This record gives sequence, C-alpha cells and structure tokens, in this order.
Amino acid sequence: MSRASLRRSFETTRGKPLVNEKSDRYTPRQMSDLTDLGKRIADLNGEMARGLAEASDVQTLERFRVEYLGRKGRIAQLFRVLAEVAPDDKREAGRLLNELKDGATSAFEERAARLTSSELQERLLRESVDVTLPGVCRPFGHLHPLTQVQREIESIFMRMGFDVATGPEIETEYYNFEALNIPADHPARADWDTFYISDTTLLRPHTSPVQIHVMESTPPPVRIICPGRCYRRDAQDATHSPVFHQIELLWVEEGLSLANLKYVLELFTREFFGEGYLMRFSGDFFPFTEPSVQVHIKAPGAAGWMEIMGAGMVDPAVLTAVGYDPECVSGFAFGLGIERMAMLKYGIDDIRAFLTNDLRFIRQF
Ligand code: DAH
Repeated sequence: MSRASLRRSFETTRGKPLVNEKSDRYTPRQMSDLTDLGKRIADLNGEMARGLAEASDVQTLERFRVEYLGRKGRIAQLFRVLAEVAPDDKREAGRLLNELKDGATSAFEERAARLTSSELQERLLRESVDVTLPGVCRPFGHLHPLTQVQREIESIFMRMGFDVATGPEIETEYYNFEALNIPADHPARADWDTFYISDTTLLRPHTSPVQIHVMESTPPPVRIICPGRCYRRDAQDATHSPVFHQIELLWVEEGLSLANLKYVLELFTREFFGEGYLMRFSGDFFPFTEPSVQVHIKAPGAAGWMEIMGAGMVDPAVLTAVGYDPECVSGFAFGLGIERMAMLKYGIDDIRAFLTNDLRFIRQF
C-alpha cells in the first residue's frame, strides 16, 4: 500500500465510527444530497424574506427571530441535515448552511434596526412635548402688606430687646376697661364702644388689655410688644374699618421716664420710615396713661404733621391693678395702628384696600 493511499484510508475513517447506534443514518437511502439542501435553503430564504418584509412591528419581528433564528428554530433544524450529508459533501453543506444563517441574521438585524428606529421615531412624535409652548404659570404668593408691615415693626422692636406677646380677641370688660382705669361709668368708655358678645365680654377694641395679661403673670421688668386684630363699631370709610390691627408696646422697669419713650420712638421712626423725619409730642388723654401724648411725625419736605400713635407713662392706677408698686417701677406704653403705619409709609389713601383682596393692590407689595 502506497503512503498516499494509506493516509487516505486513515483520513476517511478518522473520527467516524464505522459502527455505532446512529450508524443507520449513514445509509445511502437517507443521505441528503447537496442539491436537495440547496433547494431547502432557497425555500427557507424566500420564506424568511417574505416574513421579514411583513414584520412591521417589534413583536412580529421577535416571533420571526424565534421561529427562524432561535435555538430550536428552522435554521437550527436545517443544520441537523449535516449529519445526513455524505462525508464528501459535508464541507460544502456546512458552508451553505452557515451562509444561510449569517445572511438571515444580518437581514434580521437590519430589519430590526430599521423597525426600532422608525417605531422610536413614531413614538417620539406621538409622545413629544413641545418645549416651546408657554407653561402653566403657578405664581408664588407673598405675605399680605399688613403682615409684612407688622413683621417689620416687630423686628425693629425685637432688635431693641422687646418680646412679642399676644392676647385674646374676645376680652372681658375687666381687662378691656376696668384694669385699664376705665370704670363702668367713665365717659371714656364711649371712645372704645365695640361689639359685645355678652353683657361682660366683647371683641377687643384695642390691644391695651394684653398689657394687663402680661403684667398679671410677669413680675417687672416687662418689655413687650403685642400685635393683634381689633374691632370697633365704626362705619367703614377711607380711614375707618370695623376690623383693624394694632401693635401695643409696654416697658415697665425702675426709673423709666418720658425721655426713654421719646428715645425709643425716635429709633423706631428712623428704622421704619427712614432718615430725616421730625417727631413731636402733644398732650392727649388716655385713662391708662399719665401724662398721655399724641405722637406726630413730619416727612422730610412735607408740609403737615401726621399722627402715628397714642402713648404715655403708664398710669399708677394700672400698675396697682396688676400688683406692681408704682413707687418702685414706672413705665411707658403706646398703641399704634398697623394699617395707619402702612398707609403712611406707602402712601395708601384708603384703608379698605387692605381687606378687599384686590390682587392689583396686593401685588404691589
Ligand atoms: N389703646 C389706645 C387706643 O386704641 C392706644 C394707646 C394709647 C395705647 C396710649 C397705649 C397708650 O398703650 O399708652 O386708642
């Protein structure tokens, strides 16, 4: 035997058991020939081409992939034919099958890329947001001008060392009148005629009763401001409102005089209204202060004086009513209207503007 024929006989038997349980597959009767395989490949190619062309959405395309390219798909099935092909044809059969698989895979991928990009395009169009459209504006609100002014006044006095105290809006006659040195038959009661809730309780017409509440519960020294809502039976006009706001101030300690009141008010006027304002006191009467004054200010360059508050030295009768000794301590107090301060500061000429909630007015602050 020549060396060449020896090798041939070795090669043709190498790795191919001559006898095993599958050996019946090698019978010539079942063997697929290349022509047959070529035809099956061509059929499958045609079928796949139609399938791909018809796959117009991602779901259909996925069904296509499973049916033809899947692990148990039609192409994988066709690969099994390899086992039945005559040994000499195996190489060519493998090439054809791989060509089929590669061709199908790339056709599928191309289709998938085109489909997803056009589906994406379509979805983007459908779900797109036109960022050039004007948005829905939800404006931030801000504090009411009265609240702003109240807080500004509070902060000025808090920086001077005053605490903020509050009291009830429904008061007894005692706190509102008697303790403030206004007995039942005193004609001054008429100045604070208000809304009675019962025979002895009423809506407070001023914040002065808070002085009493605080002094009753605190030994001197006392240094407080008391902001709050007040009520009076006034007919409404440009300068009167049945509901309005006041800030009360009270400082009780040893050795205070009208000079201290004047100094505190000068500091306040400068902080709140600005430099260059003049201030003057003129005599007045309040049952709870002695002496009592009316405080006026004059804006730089203005012709007239404006009243900003009533004030005075706390009447000894008031100090006695809360158990303080007027021989040891003295004090001063004032009450100012918040609306009035806001009107003076911002040149508002009608007090009703604060309560009518006209946004054109409110937005200016
Ligand atoms: N309570 C007074 C009023 O509403 C204002 C007032 C005047 C308050 C003098 C005071 C004061 O504390 O000392 O008309």
